[in-house]
Amino acid sequence: MIVKLESERLALQGRLDVQKSANERNRMGQFATPTVLAVEMLRCAKALLGDRECVHFMDPAIGTGSFYSAFLNVFPDSFIGSTVGYEVDPHYGRPAARLWSSTGLDMRLEDFTQAKAPDPSSRFNLLICNPPYVRHHHIASGWKKQLQERTLIASGMEINGLAGLYCYFLCLSHAWMSRGGLAGWLIPSEFMDVNYGRAVKRYLLDKVTLLHIHRFAPNDVQFNDALVSSAVVWLRNDIPKAGHEVRFTYGGTMERPVLDRLVPSDILCENSKWTHYPMKKNHGANNGPVLGDIFRIKRGLVTGNNDYFILSDREIAQRELPMEAFRPILPSPRYVPVDEIQGDRKGNPMLERRLFLLDPPWNEDEIMERYPSLWVYLEEGRAQGINDRYTCRHRKLWYTQEIRPPAPFVCTYLGRSDRKNGRPFRFILNNSEATAANVYLMLYPKESARCALQDNPVLKRQVWQMLNKISPQAMLGEGRVYGGGLHKLEPRELGNVSARAVVGLFD
Ligand SMILES: C[S@@+](CC[C@H](N)C(=O)[O-])C[C@H]1O[C@@H](n2cnc3c(N)ncnc32)[C@H](O)[C@@H]1O
Repeated sequence: MIVKLESERLALQGRLDVQKSANERNRMGQFATPTVLAVEMLRCAKALLGDRECVHFMDPAIGTGSFYSAFLNVFPDSFIGSTVGYEVDPHYGRPAARLWSSTGLDMRLEDFTQAKAPDPSSRFNLLICNPPYVRHHHIASGWKKQLQERTLIASGMEINGLAGLYCYFLCLSHAWMSRGGLAGWLIPSEFMDVNYGRAVKRYLLDKVTLLHIHRFAPNDVQFNDALVSSAVVWLRNDIPKAGHEVRFTYGGTMERPVLDRLVPSDILCENSKWTHYPMKKNHGANNGPVLGDIFRIKRGLVTGNNDYFILSDREIAQRELPMEAFRPILPSPRYVPVDEIQGDRKGNPMLERRLFLLDPPWNEDEIMERYPSLWVYLEEGRAQGINDRYTCRHRKLWYTQEIRPPAPFVCTYLGRSDRKNGRPFRFILNNSEATAANVYLMLYPKESARCALQDNPVLKRQVWQMLNKISPQAMLGEGRVYGGGLHKLEPRELGNVSARAVVGLFD
């Protein structure tokens, strides 16, 4: 029966959504949870609850009832106790009440934030919610004040005026949960980092036992846009025990995440940016050797305009430009299919895409006099305003480049965590004389490492192999995640990566 009701609910949801404008739905935070996710959340709830005689279910923002439907689907009838849902908008609430009328759901068509909390004896041991994501500027100031007062009474938390409605929902619900009860919240992950999320984090650390936070990878397409930066937060209404550890997972599904780490709550108390987990290692200070001890790490050079300053060998020949005005440069990593680059007799990388960086060692008079074709090219650049761009304008000669000698090891600056081999960043062994642009990080061995590498050519390859053995987690822990599952690694962050294994090679 539940399968039939769920398909009716989905059809109803579709019909009701199209009758409202996107603007109206935005203002009331009306975005339904996809069935797969709702079912996954209820399966997790079942696993976390363990064997219970009777589950009392509540959804403070029920909509058409995606979680209620999943609840009926996942929990056997014999486990089901009281079930309550709140919905402020009759547009969704009335048809949903009709749909579920035969199932015993107590559907309350009212504003949850104004509702009176039940006595302790009739509280709920399972609260599941995807609360309305209404930004603070859509919450009228009178209402906001009232919400703040009510939340303080319900949970002891003082919510910042910049917080979205979901923060109030989460803390207000405290008064609806039975002791030891479980709650699963599908909420925007921004509370994990921003200032206004502080009260929510305090609540999660002090008032309840925070069990697990799962974040979806931003490029995970299984859910709609509204969920791209969402997190699922699991908590139990119990005072946390000393030494408690919180599970942080990322990517994949809640049941099969890509990254998984336990973080002591003491560490979370001290760290304001929770989205660093599970990538970041718990214990801030890395006391062992780090890559920055062995290498001077620099971002590749900023040309000022890659299209203008980087030319292929063919373009240089066609324009009859003097080769002495150029030095080889690596193409961007997507054009480097191998992780070891060989150099030809002249030191040029032996790659299909052969690129050169314009960096003439002459002043303008010399160029005008001795290299007319190059002079024409510079004139073209001036006509395009390239000499006036910020980077070029701040150089002594607008067409010369920063000093970035070739580095024996380069690392990609951007990486995706969903690459097939699971390694977002690549270390490339550069046997050529090519420099690199800022899509790479360049690793220059410091003095003692440089001498050791000079004395022992085999070592270079061993070091490179060892660099590529550094676990993706160790690298991701230092970098940052951007939209679309993209990770960036700044020179300082790469310098902080543990180098225990690499150091061993130099003993
Ligand atoms: C993000 S939707 C989630 C709906 C449903 N639980 C789901 O997951 O598909 C949030 C729902 O909360 C309702 N809502 C907004 N403000 C509310 C309030 N103050 N009290 C109760 N429900 C509210 C919205 O109308 C919307 O149906």
